[in-house]
Amino acid sequence: MNQLGFLPFVCISVQVVKHLEPFRLSLEKLKVVSTRLRKDMIRGLGKHTHHRAAVKMLPTFVRATPDGTEKGDFLALDLGGTNFRVLHVRVMEEEQKMVKMDSQLCAIPQEIMLGTGEQLFDHIAACLSEFLDSQNLKGQTLPMGFTFSFPCEQKEIDKSILIRWTKGFNCSGVEGEDVVKLLKEAIHRRGDYDISSVAMVNDTVGTMMSCGYRDQTCEIGMIIGTGTNACYMEEMKNVKRVEGEDGQMCINTEWGGFGDDGSLEDILTEFDKVVDRTSINPGVHTFEKMISGMYLGEIVRLVLMKLTEKKLLFKGEVSEALRTKETFETKFISMIEEPDSGLENAKKILTELGLTWDLVDARVVRLVCETISSRSARLCAAALATIVDRIRVNRGLPHLKTTVGVDGTVYKKHPKMQPSMHFLTPDCKIKFLVSEDGSGKGAAMVTAVAHSLSKHPHCMMVPPLCFTVRND
Ligand code: GLC
Repeated sequence: MNQLGFLPFVCISVQVVKHLEPFRLSLEKLKVVSTRLRKDMIRGLGKHTHHRAAVKMLPTFVRATPDGTEKGDFLALDLGGTNFRVLHVRVMEEEQKMVKMDSQLCAIPQEIMLGTGEQLFDHIAACLSEFLDSQNLKGQTLPMGFTFSFPCEQKEIDKSILIRWTKGFNCSGVEGEDVVKLLKEAIHRRGDYDISSVAMVNDTVGTMMSCGYRDQTCEIGMIIGTGTNACYMEEMKNVKRVEGEDGQMCINTEWGGFGDDGSLEDILTEFDKVVDRTSINPGVHTFEKMISGMYLGEIVRLVLMKLTEKKLLFKGEVSEALRTKETFETKFISMIEEPDSGLENAKKILTELGLTWDLVDARVVRLVCETISSRSARLCAAALATIVDRIRVNRGLPHLKTTVGVDGTVYKKHPKMQPSMHFLTPDCKIKFLVSEDGSGKGAAMVTAVAHSLSKHPHCMMVPPLCFTVRND
């Protein structure tokens, strides 16, 4: 008998399954979640309701997706996780492709993530200066796009007020301030180069725009990485906070904040509540905390702790490592769920965490990982279905065929995240386009589209965006 294949079904106890039950969301429940999100999106778009809305629905001032005629050289800055990147991007019209000429990565140490805004922007300005030196770009004037992947109230494409930090950042003196202004001030403090203006972009928008260059039907951008979020092209007549009725505007939904008003209380588990309570931003980004890479590993760890305390795992023996916050990394989940090597990976990881396990333990751990990641995928699918269906209804169509640009380590690395996305949109056919380097290249693309639109008489975007470098 193939014991390995047979064991899990016999040995995983009913008790274990019972503890995992609150994570299992039925199709009916997901439809309820989708309906709530639909209402919250309308609230976020409304002139008089957006102040209190949990789903912020932020206008981005991006009013067109690429048409394939964009071209030129651009600089792109990308800040959204533990690294900051500067890129030099060339957009080539003839071949309809974007080439990353070169890039530089600067780590953002924890002290800076939790330090002052001045320290953060000085660090960014120093990294940019180093890159310009290494590329011999000081003295040139290149348009610049800045992917800043946090919720911002965008006043114009080059004026963007940080609403709040997410994903482990908490630099003082930045919330409520214009990020472009802070960047410019840091550059002025250095005095070795200068910039004139910058196109600000959320990473979802960057992803949509970079995929939009390859596939012009791409009108949604989605991230499932350290954080989660999506943007899409909304009809201007529904964007009540911005003047004008014609055309479309890209809306950064900030769906991570869904549930911050208590609307997801019925699906939150005791583990989600602990993750929220012990995070640096309790009460903020409830939906994100159930879905994204920054939190999934910690949810799994808390469930494993609980099952061990109940003597359903590891013979009731918790190791020091398992007791320590954030030791179960989200990437372990993907490794443990690998179809072929998953069980072997589980054994290695459990040993490294100082646990004494048997085969049933390894199977239970895998089941826990599958349960948590599948909830994440199903919640994302429900949210995405809400957006896709909104676009369909906006256009009065019985069926919609659309493309979603996607990025983020959880989506790219998790073996089952991608196939789980389709099931909630019977009236829509969705194509997923995985973005490569979307945040950086997308910022360049926003700048490129802004440039080509500004040449038209009915330009709906911003004046030309320029990057000037003083060489003194
Ligand atoms: C967080 C940020 C959001 C970003 C997302 C993905 O939710 O608030 O702006 O798009 O992470 O990086």
